[in-house]
Amino acid sequence: MGKERALFVALLAIACLFVLVGYNSQTKIRVAPKEMLSVAHRGASAYAPENTRAAFRKGVDLQADYLECDVHLSKDDELIVMHDDKVDRTTDGKGYIRNMTLAELKTLDAGKQFGEEFVNEQILTLQELVDEFYNEVGLVIEIKNPNDYPGIEEKVVQVLNQYDDLSGIIIQSFDVQSLKKIHSLLPEVEIAILIRPTDSFITAQKVEEYTDFAAYINFNVSFTNKRTVDLVHEHGGKVLVWSKKDRRLIWKAQKYGVDGIISDFSEKPEEMYLAKE
Ligand code: G3P
Ligand code: CA
Repeated sequence: MGKERALFVALLAIACLFVLVGYNSQTKIRVAPKEMLSVAHRGASAYAPENTRAAFRKGVDLQADYLECDVHLSKDDELIVMHDDKVDRTTDGKGYIRNMTLAELKTLDAGKQFGEEFVNEQILTLQELVDEFYNEVGLVIEIKNPNDYPGIEEKVVQVLNQYDDLSGIIIQSFDVQSLKKIHSLLPEVEIAILIRPTDSFITAQKVEEYTDFAAYINFNVSFTNKRTVDLVHEHGGKVLVWSKKDRRLIWKAQKYGVDGIISDFSEKPEEMYLAKE
């Protein structure tokens, strides 16, 4: 056998081995994950229009531990629960949240794009969300694009300060400076730093810096690995992973040993796991 042919056969054998090992390790796991937090991403947004009362109610029904929501500021400085900075994708309106008043935003229909049964679903304020749900479930509040909304951190703190027990609240953002500000204003609230897929390689030094004030460092499940999760744990931090539609989320989350998952489905992880077996 020539050298080139021998090399080709060796590479082929290694590739086959990888496939087999990967396949076996996926199918070997038979024990459902325990004690893993379930976070309903934008509410149980696989079943109801994202970031609306209907999606949050469904998240509670599915026994999520936390409801995740996104917040922006309206033209009249009200905290608005919505993912995008424009209303176009999820409502029957058009334009930026920051150019509309709360009264204008309340006239929009945030449900019918998702399905006829959700017609007349209104946009929520953060105050309404917290008032209605915080006595039932934890809340993960994501501050979106804080540079577009000077003072948004103080507004969030103003809402939360009405509550004595903030142990069920997590504030998260991709913006580390905004989170540092929240931490200085409200040190008792847990902070979660969201890591962009492009920044997923994270050094031990960064992890040390982040875990100095943040309880969680959260990753998209497709852009992290066990080494990174272990690194955060070694520094006393916790990890939530998110994925919108990745059916392998539970398997990966268990393999990496994370503390919880953020998912559109938001069933308890052990139930999601069993349902997808
Ligand atoms: O909780 C993580 C996730 O919400 C971050 O991404 O775009 O869905 O807000 P996005
Ligand atoms: Ca979010």
